[in-house]
Order: sequence, then C-alpha cells, then structure tokens
Amino acid sequence: MSLFREKLEKCAREKESRVILALDLSLPVGEKDFKKKLLKKARWVLSEVSEYVAGIKVNFQLLLPLGLFDGLQLLIRDASGYGLPLIADFKLNDVEHTNEWASRHFFDAGFDALIANPFVGWKGGLETVFGVAKKSERGVILLVYMSHPGANEGYGQRVVGEDGTISFQYEVFAERAKSWGADGVVVGATQPKMVERVYQIVGRKIPIFSPGIGIQGGVISEAFRAGTTYAIVGRSIYESEDPRKAAVEIKEKINEVVK
Ligand code: XMP
Repeated sequence: MSLFREKLEKCAREKESRVILALDLSLPVGEKDFKKKLLKKARWVLSEVSEYVAGIKVNFQLLLPLGLFDGLQLLIRDASGYGLPLIADFKLNDVEHTNEWASRHFFDAGFDALIANPFVGWKGGLETVFGVAKKSERGVILLVYMSHPGANEGYGQRVVGEDGTISFQYEVFAERAKSWGADGVVVGATQPKMVERVYQIVGRKIPIFSPGIGIQGGVISEAFRAGTTYAIVGRSIYESEDPRKAAVEIKEKINEVVK
C-alpha cells in the first residue's frame, strides 16, 4: 500500500471522517489583492475543517492564481502540518513525457496523490505516471465514471473487448485500476448504480472516491450504501457560512451509514 493510502486511512480513522474537502475557492481575477485574499480564505477554510476531514483536494481554482511553487506552498505546508493528505486534481490526460513531467512537479511540490484519466491508456500514457508515483510512494487515482450528465458519452459507452465481449467503458477502467495498481477510483456519487458496479469489480482493495454530493445532486446514503469509501465535497462546505459546521454535518451523515 502506498504511503498516500496509509496517510489517508490513518486520517480517516483518527478523525472518524470519510470527507475529502475539494478546496476550489475562487475570487474575481481583477479584484485588488485577489491572490492574497484567496490564499487567506483557503487557509482559513482549511483551518476550520482540518479536524473533520480525511484529506484535501486541490484543483485549478487555486493552482492557476497561486502557482505550484509559489503561494500554493503555504497551503501545502498547512495541510502537511495538519497531517492531511493532499490530492492534485488536474486529471492528467496527455502523452507520457508531459504526464511524467507534471507528476514529478506535483509530487515535488508536496502532493501525496494525483488524479489521472485512464482514457489515455498505459503505454505512452500513464505507465510512467504510475512509475513515478510508485518510486516516491505517492498515489494515483483514476477517473472511472465522472459525476456530470455527459459522463455517459465517454465512461458509459459500450466497448468490445479483444475476445469480443461487450462491456461498459467504466467497467474496463475499474478492471484497469486493479491491474495497474491504482490507489483509488473516482465514481460520481450522482451515479450510485455505477458505484455499486465498480465496487463489485474493485471490492475493498481500491477505495472509491465520489464527488457530486450536495450541489450536483448526489445523496450520501445512496452512494455509501453502494460502496463509496470517501466523499469529495466542495461547495457545500466552503460556500457555507460556517464551513466547520457543514463539514461536521456531512461527516456525521456519512458515519450514520457506514457504522
Ligand atoms: P462540489 O463543489 O461539486 O465539488 O462538491 C466537487 C469537486 O470534485 C470535482 N469533481 C470531480 N472530480 N471526477 C473528479 O475527479 C468527477 O467526476 C468529478 N466531479 C466533480 C470538482 O472539480 C470539484 O473539485
């Protein structure tokens, strides 16, 4: 098991939380001192919820204005100080040399895991990403079925295997997550049936991360009963007047289902 998974499981146990905070705060680019304000707000939200979440996920909303080796470093240090694993959600989706370059940067910057898109395949796509992650004991999480309605157009397609068997693309990706040694799979909480099917394939070996709870319409009880291991939650927490209270409420709702 990668250090990332050990760290995540330890946090989840100690904090009794299956919530991953998606810290996607943003401010209008033209606003005076927007970078300073954005960093301050992100650090404040993190400090408010650090006791009630199992990990943090960062997306372009913070990376682009703050910069990986610039402002974002303060937030990365905060997360590390709270002992929280940090996931880079930039959905790596390119050819090998670019993917490898990006992975090294994310890991060197202090991220514990990254999310990648299995559509690019193994050879010349994600092979080196898994290699870099393995060497540094970081994690790779694969998109298996995304949470938005159009996910069906890609992840939900029927595909014909080499032996002529027909399956859904996301079933193939769930199998690949096992054979490639992924540290997690993303399946939208908006699709409890897909969560259930992916759980049948990956079992308890690979944690299922489900975004889409709350604003996107996913329901905690349905997702966790179907097999979700961690809920990825953004706006319902950081847009709340009281992010701490929102995080506690979500964590407790999940615990009612999983305990
Ligand atoms: P909200 O505000 O909807 O944020 O709670 C959800 C977070 O998760 C990301 N997201 C996804 N990430 N696969 C992913 O890897 C998905 O299917 C997916 N859907 C949403 C979103 O970018 C945000 O950070």
